[in-house]
Amino acid sequence: MHDIIRRLDAKRALARLGGGEKRIATQHAKGKLSARERIELLLDEGTFEEWDMFVEHRCHDFGMAAESVPGDGVVTGYGMINGRIVFVFSQDFTVFGGSLSEAHAEKICKVMDHAMKAGAPVIGLNDSGGARIQEGVASLGGYAEVFQRNVMASGVIPQISLIMGPCAGGAVYSPAMTDFIFMVKDSSYMFVTGPEVVKTVTHEEVTAEELGGAVSHTTRSGVADLAFETDVDALLMVRRLFNYLPLNNREKPPKRYTTDTADRLEKSLDTLVPDNPNKPYDMKELIGKVVDDGEFFELAPDYAKNIIIGFGRMEGGPVGIVANQPLVLAGCLDIRSAIKAARFVRFCDAFNIPVVTFVDVPGFMPGTAQEYGGIIKHGAKLLYAYAECTVPKITVITRKAYGGAYDVMSSKHLRGDVNFAWPSAEIAVMGPKGAVEIIFREEKNDPAKLAAREKEYRETFANPFIAGRRGFIDDVIMPHETRKRICRSLAMLRDKRLSNPWRKHGNIPL
Ligand code: HXC
Repeated sequence: MHDIIRRLDAKRALARLGGGEKRIATQHAKGKLSARERIELLLDEGTFEEWDMFVEHRCHDFGMAAESVPGDGVVTGYGMINGRIVFVFSQDFTVFGGSLSEAHAEKICKVMDHAMKAGAPVIGLNDSGGARIQEGVASLGGYAEVFQRNVMASGVIPQISLIMGPCAGGAVYSPAMTDFIFMVKDSSYMFVTGPEVVKTVTHEEVTAEELGGAVSHTTRSGVADLAFETDVDALLMVRRLFNYLPLNNREKPPKRYTTDTADRLEKSLDTLVPDNPNKPYDMKELIGKVVDDGEFFELAPDYAKNIIIGFGRMEGGPVGIVANQPLVLAGCLDIRSAIKAARFVRFCDAFNIPVVTFVDVPGFMPGTAQEYGGIIKHGAKLLYAYAECTVPKITVITRKAYGGAYDVMSSKHLRGDVNFAWPSAEIAVMGPKGAVEIIFREEKNDPAKLAAREKEYRETFANPFIAGRRGFIDDVIMPHETRKRICRSLAMLRDKRLSNPWRKHGNIPL
């Protein structure tokens, strides 16, 4: 018996070593942790339950029969994050460059299948040279099996991807279908075709980092949500993100104890909105002062900065926050911001997280770049997302809510449950200047008359009371009591029930 146990220990030790000490040292020299070190940091200590440590590839071509490493380049299993279950796979770059073989894919599929049965999230740590070249189509099939599961899991269990090394070619499409993507600066990249192919086809010279590094994807493409300096930072932030999420779409998100009282008043909010309607202010100040303990987990902070998205808590319960940012493009909605917010609203809706929307939007961004880029279709995404959303929706209009953008931003008409406005709110078809220039066009050569018209328009329409008169605004509230009023509304909506008509699926304008 002792002998067998010793042999098991030896087999385990071999598997744990992956591609060997030399390759692990190379990984460390690149500033990267090994697949197992990453899992250790991600999960609560001692909770990792590993599966399929002895799985090996079945390839005989190109001398592969003689080269087999137990585990086949991916560490899989489940464990806990703050006592809550999560399934993980962590690709091991030290084994055939973390490349995906048929057996490697089967291991990933196994944890995904179990995650669906158990109703628990999947976190994938990606560090791979892509399809195992020696295996050919078997490897491509393996990828497609993973893709299919990503799609089936979408909206059922949260899926999070960390990109911690190469992720290229079709391999990028698995993370792309997950809910959140975090990347590590200087050591990770994602692209469909690498710099060499780019150079051959388009004659562009670009480095891997510029083409698909963490900074490019969090500032230019919007593919990734957050970029981190190190593996450790990225892993610790995933743990924080995890705390906001329910385990699956049938659960509510986890509550956390807080000493921050629901009726806390914030006097400073009464002076947040400047007297001059064209002067910007920082919407993040409002968010920070309203959520529990000032803690806001912002997503995609460096992409489409004219809209802010992220998680906070109110009375301990997670909420998704969407807010126009007057500091950037005056808070206008454009293609990028509409897509960014739409996807977030849909995530919250799928996972029972109430949505709190702060509105200060002068409208949709004008111009040929936006029109040719499809602002009609992309702006409609946000409209669609809010309209189909059935979780509790609270809206606070702080200043401008003009035109179509008023409708889009979780208005009463899109089944906003509680819609508040601050006294500084201006709810109208368009801003006073634009409005009088159209309806009093004949007076355009008389600046004094036009100024008077503008003043009249502002006094008549640029306030919350016209909308209030029709019940489109439930109440005009003092800015300092915003937190209290939102908390009460959320408590009132705790057991909200609303469902959409049966259909196979809607046809969101993609
Ligand atoms: C098999 C691979 C591999 C792969 C890397 N290795 N990629 N083995 N299949 N796809 C092996 C290397 O042979 C090497 O083995 C070890 O992993 C480390 O690789 P290095 O090249 O030494 O590392 P590095 O210099 O850091 O370069 C990493 C890399 C490079 C940029 C990822 O290895 C590379 O370009 N690999 C090929 C990438 C690729 O073309 N993949 C297929 C993409 S198509 P030894 O024994 O020397 O340590 C694809 C389609 C997916 O993925 C389709 C899904 C629908």
